[in-house]
Amino acid sequence: MVKDAKDRDYQSHQERELPIYVPEVLIFETPDEVDAYAASRVIRQITTHPASSLTVPTGNTPTGMYERLVAANSNGEVDFSQATFINLDEYYPISPDHPSSYTEYMKRNFTGRVKVGEWHIPNGAAPDPESEARRYADLLAQRQPIDLAVIGIGPGTTCHIGFNEKGSSIDSGVRYAPLASETQAVNAQLFDDPAEIPAGTLTQGIADILGARQILLLAKGPSKAWGINRTLKGLISSDAPASFLRHHPRVTFALDKESARYIR
Ligand code: GLP
Repeated sequence: MVKDAKDRDYQSHQERELPIYVPEVLIFETPDEVDAYAASRVIRQITTHPASSLTVPTGNTPTGMYERLVAANSNGEVDFSQATFINLDEYYPISPDHPSSYTEYMKRNFTGRVKVGEWHIPNGAAPDPESEARRYADLLAQRQPIDLAVIGIGPGTTCHIGFNEKGSSIDSGVRYAPLASETQAVNAQLFDDPAEIPAGTLTQGIADILGARQILLLAKGPSKAWGINRTLKGLISSDAPASFLRHHPRVTFALDKESARYIR
């Protein structure tokens, strides 16, 4: 049954004859070097085009990148005041001022520490997730094209990008999406009371991410190793949503050597 669904999915992409590209894969000795590279890409984008629009991630992986961006801003190397930052996702439902919300994460790590032109993130406390998804989709549409999407990848076998879990379509847009149980188990550890983890999310879709001019995926540590190999070397299918990135011509994977260790 599941196999049939996968085959159909694979065939539908083959029929559309989407081009397949080989992403740039950079493997760094240490996680710090991944941070430095990620920060340098953002700084280069914004110093050459100050009014750029960027999609930005949350999670443990990008904290070092944000630390470097804040430092670069305070020493005058980069000015974010004309740039637009659009977050990938947020839990739903969650109060924006909950300490484990992505809204709080962004304030703590970046937007509360530098002056930015615009910053947008889904409202986890909106009364209706469907209308909040439509609002965010419209907002994103008005800021197209996104110049650079910086993203992470989900843990274990999830291969999710944003909160596009297994089964997400390449055509998906901003929407309410339930959390997969594997993600729920990992992300619950980020809540003081793991039982408080929300059941769902509001996330940019795969099509939104693929709409960016350039994509930079960051991964660090052994928990990402299986997913990185699956993403780069396995079948392109909704069984591993990150594998859809291989249909984009300008993707860089910036990996530390732990997350790259299973690449065949
Ligand atoms: C969450 C987010 C993803 C992120 C992933 C990885 O699931 N929705 O956008 O890429 O976490 O997080 P971490 O960097 O903490 O491993």
